Amino acid sequence: MALWKKKPEAEVDFSRLPRHVAIIMDGNGRWAKRRGLPRTAGHAAGAENFRTIATYCKEIGLEYLTVYAFSTENWKRPVEEVSAIMGLLKKYLLEAIGRMERDRVKMRFFGDLSPLSAELRELCLETEEISKRYEGCQVNICLNYGGRDELLRAARAFALDCQEGRADPGHLTEAAFGQYLYSAGVPDPDLVIRPSGEVRISNFLLWQSAYAEFYFTDVLWPDFSKEELHRALAAYQGRSRRFGGV
Ligand code: IPE
Ligand code: IPE
Ligand code: MG
Repeated sequence: MALWKKKPEAEVDFSRLPRHVAIIMDGNGRWAKRRGLPRTAGHAAGAENFRTIATYCKEIGLEYLTVYAFSTENWKRPVEEVSAIMGLLKKYLLEAIGRMERDRVKMRFFGDLSPLSAELRELCLETEEISKRYEGCQVNICLNYGGRDELLRAARAFALDCQEGRADPGHLTEAAFGQYLYSAGVPDPDLVIRPSGEVRISNFLLWQSAYAEFYFTDVLWPDFSKEELHRALAAYQGRSRRFGGV
């Protein structure tokens, strides 16, 4: 008798995929610690896994992938760790720009890019600019992103529009308010995945995830494989979404 049995392959119906999957890419530090490596090695492994998973999402025909890369709270970390994350991001963007013609993925950044270095900010804007003509798959990278910060900015921008006569507070709808968010034009996430065992939202897509399905797993982000993604998709497909109805 087998003492150890492999988990069965998850059955995914690829003709019924969610339109939009969002992932909190968490657990890089613990992944490194378990291997006796510095936390930065975990971030490098996490960045590599992001490439793999994003490419796979495009292959299977997912329309939108949104990933949480750096939060408004992550500046609290040691300066060396923040610099290492920014360095990995720069490396990733340079590669992405180089492969743009092959990948043909539309990329957008959600978050306040102003505290980033001028070089990194330019790379983000360049990536958005070059990739805006691609259709089919869109990857949104949340960078210096916070759900509360996003809502505050939206409220401020709306208030300014009211003050200057471009908007009317009496006629604000959910759809109109959504246009003030970083995610303007992007449908709400259907599925939010958080690896690493933490069961919290950590300021991610607070407005947009109102009716998202959540999937939590103990697997750490650098180990979150295509098979893990299949498990999340299969779990999603087994859910009954009622949106408050019956
Ligand atoms: C996620 O991994 C990456 C970022 C938040 C930038 P962590 O660095 O939070 O990894 P853990 O949670 O400490 O394991
Ligand atoms: C959330 O992870 C942010 C990202 C993955 C970018 P954190 O590791 O920062 O979240 P907490 O501190 O565990 O809530
Ligand atoms: Mg973490």
